Amino acid sequence: MNHQPIEGFSKLSKQRKIDWLISEYLSGDRSFEQILQQYWNNDAELQKLHEEFSENTISNFYMPYGIAPNFLIDGKLLSLPMAVEESSVVAAASKSAKFWIDKGGFKTTIINTKKLGHTHFIMNVEPHKLQHFFNFKLKKKLFETTDEITANMRKRGGGILNIRLIDKTAEMPNYFQLKASFDTVDSMGANFINSCLERFGKTLREEVENDENFTSEEKNSLQIVMNILSNYTPDCIVRAEVSCKIEDLKDESGIAPEEFAWKFRQAVTIAEIEPFRATTHNKGIMNGVDAVVIATGNDFRATSACAHAYASRNGKYSSLTHCTIDGGIFRFWIDLPISVGVVGGLTNLHPLVKFSLALLGKPSAQELMSVLAVSGLAQNFAALRSLVTTGIQKGHMKMHLFNILNQFNATEEEKQYFVNYFKDKTVSHHEVISKLRELRDMNL
Ligand code: MEV
Repeated sequence: MNHQPIEGFSKLSKQRKIDWLISEYLSGDRSFEQILQQYWNNDAELQKLHEEFSENTISNFYMPYGIAPNFLIDGKLLSLPMAVEESSVVAAASKSAKFWIDKGGFKTTIINTKKLGHTHFIMNVEPHKLQHFFNFKLKKKLFETTDEITANMRKRGGGILNIRLIDKTAEMPNYFQLKASFDTVDSMGANFINSCLERFGKTLREEVENDENFTSEEKNSLQIVMNILSNYTPDCIVRAEVSCKIEDLKDESGIAPEEFAWKFRQAVTIAEIEPFRATTHNKGIMNGVDAVVIATGNDFRATSACAHAYASRNGKYSSLTHCTIDGGIFRFWIDLPISVGVVGGLTNLHPLVKFSLALLGKPSAQELMSVLAVSGLAQNFAALRSLVTTGIQKGHMKMHLFNILNQFNATEEEKQYFVNYFKDKTVSHHEVISKLRELRDMNL
């Protein structure tokens, strides 16, 4: 069936939007309305709040919200909130937390908290002349004209740290940047940074226009292409690490601690040198990071983009974690560039985000960076631990069992039967289906 475009969809009421979707795309089947409605909140205020987070909202999309307890981080015992749909992520985090709790736990260090943004512009001008204008005139004006925008942030201890002119003409004709660094304290700072940058764009135009040293050709050649923060923040970075004596690396699979340490380090080295493995390895890390990013109301697209860009910083995509074995000590760590906030955005609005932040003891943005790096490291430890011992499917399929059973509308009794049945076996999709068939045939 050919569908017709619609004008003014956003202006329709929620009910009208649903009616149109059902008649246009769902063959008039009203049962789809029921699916949407069952996720509406009974509390009208709360429903409205969610609808106003985004546009054209017709329902809420639930994700499991779980807790990984027993994380000892810099001497504090925390329970991590995780919003994630993938089976076994929360279980893996909890398992790692438990493993490290009696070995000193996780230690973190904030390496830097600088965020970046650029005004990208084109100007047909001699780079030295522009640099002179920047050094002796523009830079000061950029600070002055953003004075009002930065006043509050400066009161909180942040603001614009520095602004530089970058000559990019070797890569693209007449391309320059105003590259600014910011401290946004406890906020992620996207709106603050972008407001400053948009003001930079205006000031640059005004100051070039009013400067008699530029020719009219030079002035006319100026184009402000865009003013935008960079989600790549290699200088907003935290390290999380664990370490212990090799003999303490006891695993329930029975593998000898030395062999475990050696295989584990090999697995990390493979991720360091092989991009195909590094991608999966880092995806596993982001399972842990993003689940906490979402639960704390931060932007997981930004944190993922940044982590993967950083993983490619040396020209080849590589592991975010590293491991050494030195003098009988096993050490495993992550350097994670990550920009997050604990004020602004969803943090004061979404009730579950408020819960998450309260659960974490109302962390500062830096403390949250630490928690996120730990969550990524813990997730990677759990994945590699399984991969180099029993294999990933044992734990993964155990958690996935309920998904398979739910697909076949299994009863509580059937679920219980399968939990017992697979207690000492690896779950396989095929075996669940054939056993379920057997069970149901027997009961007929
Ligand atoms: C699955 O979501 C993530 C893993 O594949 C990560 C890894 O292989 O390291 C288990």
